Amino acid sequence: MDVLVVEGGEVLEGTVRTAGAKNAVLSLLTAAILTEEEVVVENVPALADVRTMLGILKELGGEVRELGEGRVSIRMAEIPEPVADWNLVRKMRASFEVLGPLLARCGRAQVSYPGGCVFGLRPVDIHLKGLRALGATITTDAGYVLAEAPPGGLVGAEIYLGTPFGSSVGATRNVMMAAVCAKGTTVLQNAACEPEIVDLAQCLIKMGARVLGAGSPTIVIEGVERLHGTTHSVIPDRIEAGTYLAAGAITGGRVRVENCRPDHLTSFLDALHHAGCAVERGTDWLETQPREAFGSGLERLRATDVTTQPYPGFPTDLQAQWVTLMSLAEGISVVTERIYTDRYMHLAELTRLGARVRRQGSIAILEGIERFSGASLMASDLRASVSLVLAGLVARGTTEIHRVYHIDRGYERVEARLSSLGANIRRTSAE
Ligand code: EPZ
Repeated sequence: MDVLVVEGGEVLEGTVRTAGAKNAVLSLLTAAILTEEEVVVENVPALADVRTMLGILKELGGEVRELGEGRVSIRMAEIPEPVADWNLVRKMRASFEVLGPLLARCGRAQVSYPGGCVFGLRPVDIHLKGLRALGATITTDAGYVLAEAPPGGLVGAEIYLGTPFGSSVGATRNVMMAAVCAKGTTVLQNAACEPEIVDLAQCLIKMGARVLGAGSPTIVIEGVERLHGTTHSVIPDRIEAGTYLAAGAITGGRVRVENCRPDHLTSFLDALHHAGCAVERGTDWLETQPREAFGSGLERLRATDVTTQPYPGFPTDLQAQWVTLMSLAEGISVVTERIYTDRYMHLAELTRLGARVRRQGSIAILEGIERFSGASLMASDLRASVSLVLAGLVARGTTEIHRVYHIDRGYERVEARLSSLGANIRRTSAE
């Protein structure tokens, strides 16, 4: 199994280009289920999760062709059996979102429940509530969700998609994809507003769907007879962009992130500004500005509290990176995780590097220290793992991060990109 080995202490300098967004591309690939015609998705990142999703579409009967340069062609001409089994779904929760499109296309579907995850239960009750509201009969058996559309097909409805944590990105996508060919009008209330939702809606509109209001809490969908093929390019990955800005901020270097959408990162940029990290901004780039060196160390960031919220609030997918930054800040910071209250697998590992952390339920209290000391660490989930890499960049000595496959799920060639910025990082394999 691969291990990332980081020698801390380099000040990062240089430019990285943001890849296509993991959390947008997966549902764009899924949308191909809604038509027999060819869908070409461009700017597709080279990630393990993308390969998993393409595997699921092939299992469903799809013809998948990689056209090179991040372009993938999918044609779901026929779907003999609308079944997504546990072996596929357990690898990646997002695959549960084939349920809505399969139901819309085939009138029935059988999809494995996604099961648990390191940051807690993560139910799909709102997905099922939405599909039921469109007239589907939903039963569960042997770990599977069995969905059946009424004889005349799904029927539009007004649906409230709120969860105890606010809106749901996955439920909004699943129900939106089911509703585009339903009879009549569907109104989604308290819909998620993430840029990934807007990207999916734009692709569906190119396929002939009638969707209004994506990006706002109220989405109105006029059902149409059928959808056709299209070509769509994935938006840049705002979480990847934020992660590389955090790498610039933590090392105090000048890191330019190109091909990104600064307007998708407002809350994160606001927090960086408050913490004393200056960031220059262009239409499609962002650049952290170098910080002064004082005495033995770098001018430290200022302690800054954040609370994770649905978009446009502070993203939960940048919480772990923020915790690492604040573990070295001047003063005490409070981080409140409102989306996944147990999303704190990185705390114990950061403590191994010397971080001073206390946790009370969904709140982490960080007393900033001067410097981490390198150690061997265990990755647990995608964002927690990359936060450990950030820590390794500034730790004294060597940091080893084991179970790197978590990072490969969401970051394209992370060590190559960080090396191009001057980091001393390499991938080796552990016995
Ligand atoms: C998406 O997950 C992202 N994944 C997650 O990114 C991201 O953290 C999350 O949205 C929130 O922004 C993808 O896009 C593939 P939700 P999703 O439904 O859709 C609760 C990463 O690191 N909920 O918006 O699964 C749920 O438990 C990943 O890239 C219900 O209670 O998230 C959570 O607490 C991790 N019932 C909250 O809502 C439901 O039916 C938000 O979940 C659905 C969700």
